[in-house]
Amino acid sequence: MAMREVPLSRSFISEEIKLAVMRVLESGRFVLDRECEEFEAELAAYTGVRHAVLSSSGTAASSLLYLALGLKPGDEVIMPSHTAFPCVEPIIQRGAKPIFVDIDDTYCTDPDQLESAVTPRTVGILLVHLYGHPGDIDVALAIARRHRLWLIEDCAQALGARYRGKMVGSFGSAAVVSFFPSKNLTVLGDGGCVLTDDDGMAERIRMLRNHGRREKYVHELVGYNLRFNEIQAAIGRVALKHLERHNRRRREIAAYYDDRLAGVVGTPVARPWVEHVYHMYVIRTPRRDALAAFLRKHGVGVGIHYPTPIHLQPALKMKFADRFDLPRTTAAANEILSIPIFGEMSLDDAAYVSDLVVEFVNRAWNL
Ligand SMILES: Cc1ncc(COP(=O)(O)O)c(C=O)c1O
Repeated sequence: MAMREVPLSRSFISEEIKLAVMRVLESGRFVLDRECEEFEAELAAYTGVRHAVLSSSGTAASSLLYLALGLKPGDEVIMPSHTAFPCVEPIIQRGAKPIFVDIDDTYCTDPDQLESAVTPRTVGILLVHLYGHPGDIDVALAIARRHRLWLIEDCAQALGARYRGKMVGSFGSAAVVSFFPSKNLTVLGDGGCVLTDDDGMAERIRMLRNHGRREKYVHELVGYNLRFNEIQAAIGRVALKHLERHNRRRREIAAYYDDRLAGVVGTPVARPWVEHVYHMYVIRTPRRDALAAFLRKHGVGVGIHYPTPIHLQPALKMKFADRFDLPRTTAAANEILSIPIFGEMSLDDAAYVSDLVVEFVNRAWNL
C-alpha cells in the first residue's frame, strides 16, 4: 500500500476566504464591526435562535454565559466528565460545583443518570453534544423543566447537527459554540459564540464582553475584553456557507468507515432521531495504543478525545476523584481512538485509513 499523509482534521481554507480577509484589511475596521454583526445574524438565522453573540473563544463564550446566568459559589451543575476540560473551567471559576455523570454508548451523557444527580443546590445541566452527536435533549429538557433548572447545550463539536429535525443549540436556555481550527465551522483561530432566544441574556453578554458598555464611554457594568475580530468574522461567514456541504461530507466518510470497520473495531453509535455531524469519528479497541502507533507510522493522524476524564485531571482529582464513580467514562478513555475526518476529506483517504485498521486487526488476530 503506497504511503499517504492523512491528517486527523484539516481546516477549510479557500480563495473566497483569502478575498474576505483582504476585504477586511482594506476596510480598516478590525473589532466588533459590520462583519461581526453580519456573522452573528447569519449564525442566529442558521441555528434558528434570536441571538448569536460572538466572543474570543468557546471558553470565553461559556464564561460570559455563566456570569450572565448568575452562577455562584455552592451552585451545582450536572455535566459529563468525558468531555473537553474547557467545559468545566468556567464553572469552577465561578466557585460552582460540577456534578459529573457517566456516558452512554453514544459517548454523551447517560440520560438515565440525570434525575438522580439533581439536589436542592442544582441550578443547571450542561449537555455536551460530543463528537457531533446530540445528547438526549428530550430527557434533559424534561428534567430541567421539572426542577426549574437551566439547560445549556455545548455545541462546540456539533454545529449543524439536528435533533428530531431541529438544529442543536436551539433547545436549551442557551448554547455555546467554538470556532477553533479543528471544529466543523472554524474561523482559523480562536473564536466562539453564545446562542440564545433570551433578549436580556444576549444584551448582558454583549455588554460583558465589551467592558460592560453599550455606548463607547458609558460603562454600566464592570466587564471584560472578550470581543471578536472582523477578520475572523469574515472568515467564519464564508465557512458558514459551506458548513452543510462539509457536514454532509463528514457523514459520507462516516458511513464509509461504518461499512468497512463495523465488526472490526467498535464504531460510533448514532440514535435514529439525530443527524450526527461527526466532528470526530471515534473507534474503539482494547489495543488502542498499538493501533494508534501503527496508524501514525503509516502517515495517519489520530487523537484521543479524551485520554483522561475531567474529574481525574491533575487540577481536579484531589477534590473529585473519590467522589465520582464513572465506569463507562474511564473504560472509554482507555479504548477510544479518533481517526481522520474533515469536511473535504476524500474517500480515497478514508479507504487508506480503513485498509490500515483492517490490516492491523487481522495481524493482531494472527499473532
Ligand atoms: C466540547 C467542547 N466544549 C468547549 C470547548 C472550548 O472551546 P474553545 O477551545 O473555543 O475555547 C471545546 C473545544 O476545545 C470543546 O470541544
